[in-house]
Amino acid sequence: MTGRVEGKVAFITGAARGQGRSHALTLAREGADIIAVDITKQIDSVPYALATPDDLAETVKQVEALGRRIVAAQADMRDYDALKQALDDGVAQLGRLDIVSANAGIFSYGTLAELPEQTWQDMIDTNLTGAWHAAKAAIPHLRAAGGGSMILTSSTMGLMAISNLGHYVAAKHGVVGLMRTLALELAPDFIRVNSIHPASVDTDMVHNAAMYALFAPDLPEDQRTRQTLAPRFQALEVLPIPWVEPADISNAVLFLASDEARYITGITLPVDAGATLK
Ligand SMILES: NC(=O)c1ccc[n+]([C@@H]2O[C@H](COP(=O)([O-])OP(=O)(O)OC[C@H]3O[C@@H](n4cnc5c(N)ncnc54)[C@H](O)[C@@H]3O)[C@@H](O)[C@H]2O)c1
Repeated sequence: MTGRVEGKVAFITGAARGQGRSHALTLAREGADIIAVDITKQIDSVPYALATPDDLAETVKQVEALGRRIVAAQADMRDYDALKQALDDGVAQLGRLDIVSANAGIFSYGTLAELPEQTWQDMIDTNLTGAWHAAKAAIPHLRAAGGGSMILTSSTMGLMAISNLGHYVAAKHGVVGLMRTLALELAPDFIRVNSIHPASVDTDMVHNAAMYALFAPDLPEDQRTRQTLAPRFQALEVLPIPWVEPADISNAVLFLASDEARYITGITLPVDAGATLK
């Protein structure tokens, strides 16, 4: 049986774990080879652990177990030259590029009145400038392939606002402007560009002590668990679930990457259990 992205090559940022790893496995299962990058070290303003080299190695192992090829590299979205080098190396080894999933991102929190300069800057540099870096580095390769699909990961917070996350909200809204302008500029080259907008996703970005403290400041630390937090996450959504799974986002990425979406460009696709209805 032919896969839905058979013979294509996908560049995925933040691929060491979470949604990025899920996107890599989903696209590989459907026939794509993968170029994977991740920072695999810490950013000081981020209040939970980012991925490790072991996480990235595990993504490599799992993609190879599916019989697909993968080229993985450590690269920081904030560093354009390093990111471009990693992508160029991957394309040199795998022969082409068709799909971009600009997925890497960080989370931190604070009111806009008090947010430290560095926390703001790290957020914008990673979640917004990083997405542009991925797109910019990919454009020549997609043009050489005669077209392609870029999927930029925004958030429900790219379509609405919430207190204490102003820098995240600003970066994720910025991703929408980036996506729309890329979609206009790249349409003549048959490069489609869309954004996806997840609600809470069951990954390490959500399940950590800092996020739990934000959602449940009233609970003693030892009572902040998945179970006690679930109703608070569920209150953000319409469907009666606390969070979606990484696979739910991967299915949207796969659709937008595939030829089934060949005339879809410039859209903001929520995968949010109805959160943006509120
Ligand atoms: N988890 C959620 O609830 C949620 C909701 C909406 C949107 N998102 C977005 O989804 C994307 C994926 O997040 P996730 O839920 O898989 O979280 P995650 O923390 O598990 O994965 C993010 C990955 O990005 C990597 N990364 C972070 N900064 C980087 C940098 N500067 N350069 C390269 N890699 C970097 C991390 O090491 C990590 O592996 C992010 O853009 C996030 O903002 C997440």
